Formats: sequence, C-alpha cells, structure tokens
Amino acid sequence: MDNIKVLISEEKLQKRIKKLAKEIEKDYKDKEINLICILKGSIMFTCDLARNINKNVMIDFLRVSSYENNKSKTISFVKGLLPDIKGKDIILIEDIIDSGKTMNFLVPLLSKMKPNSIKVCTLLDKPSRRTMSFKADYVGFTIEDKFVLGYGMDYDQKYRNLKFIGYIEK
Ligand code: IMP
Ligand code: MG
Repeated sequence: MDNIKVLISEEKLQKRIKKLAKEIEKDYKDKEINLICILKGSIMFTCDLARNINKNVMIDFLRVSSYENNKSKTISFVKGLLPDIKGKDIILIEDIIDSGKTMNFLVPLLSKMKPNSIKVCTLLDKPSRRTMSFKADYVGFTIEDKFVLGYGMDYDQKYRNLKFIGYIEK
C-alpha cells in the first residue's frame, strides 16, 4: 500500500456533508430535489448527501469521459446514461472542481435540455488550478493544490473505497 496521508478525516467529511444537506433542504423546501451524480467519483458523496436530506430526493447518474493529451483536454458524454431533466430542479453532484473544464462543458449542455433550474454542489474545490472560471453553488471544502484520492475518488482506479480523503506522500 502506498503511503497515504489523511487530508480530510471521515468525521470532518460527515460533519460537513450533514451541514450541506441541511442547507440544500432549506433552499429546496418548496422544490423537488433531483441529484445528478457524476460518475464515478461522486458516488460516495451523493449517497451520504442524499441520506442526510430529510425529504424526498430523486437520484440520477451521468458519466463524462475526458481525453487528455499534453495540449488539451476534451470532454464528452458517455451515451446512454443521460437523465431526462426537462422541467426539473437539478443539482449536479461533483467530487472535485479542478481546472473547471468539466463544469464549463456540462452546465451549458444540460441547460439546453431545459431544466427548471440547475445548481452545482461539489465536495471539493481547488480554485488555484482553474484554467476556466467556475463557481459552484455549494462547496464542501476548498483545498490546496494536491492530488487527492479516496471517498469515491481514484488514483489509477484505486482507493475509491477509503472513508476519508487522502493524498499520496511522495
Ligand atoms: P476539471 O474538469 O479539471 O475541473 O476536473 C474535474 C475532474 O477531474 C473531477 O471530476 C475528477 O474526476 C478529476 N480530478 C481533478 N482533480 C482530482 C484529484 O485531485 N483527485 C482525483 N480526481 C481529480
Ligand atoms: Mg468528477
């Protein structure tokens, strides 16, 4: 096992997620909540957020793939998993916002599908890494420029099942 250090403990994560859930519950007291989990990284966050919201919550999924070479990053939808969001109040659930490219791709595209409203909730935000500006509506933690893993997020498809957020000490 690599030398993994804890950045955000399970306890801190769960405490913050409970607060976010209450905030969303309050903001959506007159609206239906449709969480859209962006696979795979947001699975744990979506589950814990949903089970801390004390009203009915719909959950759907979408997946984007990104292809990166040394010059640019191209993002596209993985077909067949696109939920019907027309007329709905949706909250996109993201694990982490880094360069901002994924959100700058997704939000305008989903807006074209005419949801009633669209908000973004991210567990982590790394604002120092932005190449395209983006501000999420709900942010769990703002973190420094570190590659993180665990709690849904992977390094080489590994570590998603950790209960905390960590990083590899080099
Ligand atoms: P963006 O398009 O650069 O904002 O990147 C967002 C996506 O990159 C996230 O949804 C993650 O899947 C991945 N990502 C960015 N930073 C990290 C990290 O530190 N650990 C794991 N995945 C990351
Ligand atoms: Mg992601």
